[in-house]
Amino acid sequence: MDREVSRIIENRQLAGGIYKMTLETKECKFSRPGQFAMIGVEGKFLRRPISVCEYDSDRYTIIYKVVGEGTDILSRMLPGEKVNSITGCGNGYDVDAIPDGAYLVAGGIGIPPMLGLMKALVMQGKNANLVLGFNSKNDFFLIEEFRNICGNIDILTADGSNGRKGFVTDAFAHADYACACGPTGMLKALDSKVSRGQFSLEARMGCGFGACMGCSINTLEGPMRVCKEGPVFDKEIIEWQKL
Ligand SMILES: Cc1cc2nc3c(=O)[nH]c(=O)nc-3n(C[C@H](O)[C@H](O)[C@H](O)COP(=O)(O)OP(=O)(O)OC[C@H]3O[C@@H](n4cnc5c(N)ncnc54)[C@H](O)[C@@H]3O)c2cc1C
Ligand code: FES
Repeated sequence: MDREVSRIIENRQLAGGIYKMTLETKECKFSRPGQFAMIGVEGKFLRRPISVCEYDSDRYTIIYKVVGEGTDILSRMLPGEKVNSITGCGNGYDVDAIPDGAYLVAGGIGIPPMLGLMKALVMQGKNANLVLGFNSKNDFFLIEEFRNICGNIDILTADGSNGRKGFVTDAFAHADYACACGPTGMLKALDSKVSRGQFSLEARMGCGFGACMGCSINTLEGPMRVCKEGPVFDKEIIEWQKL
């Protein structure tokens, strides 16, 4: 685990409480979509885990929702300021294992990593059905970016203010294969509608690189760390009733 210094290039609001931050670092360690960065926050002992949305060799973008003090401090940082970070955390999605025509399903702040995943699938010449869930049209973000690379997008809003009214689980009756990211309740509800797939889990994290065991979950293959063996797991091995 190497600590890095990342310099903020851009930090702007996309929707109510949702911010996009682009950072520059000497050497970005991301190798797969669905990995995350541990972002240091001034005055806070623990770094905050945030999924990478897009990355290249020396830049990466995160999209985050202000939910507490740490993300509030981040939202007020300016271009040129620096953060201590660790990039390339976790396993990410195994893009080669995703079949053509799979579903990509994401809700709320689970949506950003799906942009990187969708781009990786397009690079492999694969099609995917994208299902995005928001509470309301006022929460929309990244829609144009997805439309630029994917023709098959189903958008649902819980309040029916735009797109279909409902939840991502209302988008299809059954899917053979799905990649998902979103709140645990959404993933649990999705589990019974999907035969196989890769689901990204969230957990409260201490270190973010496998040392403290604070993020362990039970799986059918034994205890696993969300930050190290995850956050993306074959959904078949998750003990959903224990989450
Ligand atoms: C692998 C991973 C990837 C993530 N990716 C993103 C992302 O792309 N964008 C984003 O906005 N957020 C993401 N999160 C959640 C993010 O880490 C938390 O929202 C953030 O740490 C909150 O920090 P805070 O200091 O603002 O809030 P805190 O003061 O620490 O907490 C405020 C509230 O948020 C809840 N919370 C804090 N951390 C988590 C967590 N890890 N999971 C669920 N609830 C939490 C707390 O229970 C509390 O109610 C991710 C979390 C994980 C584990
Ligand atoms: S957060 Fe420390 S082991 Fe996962």
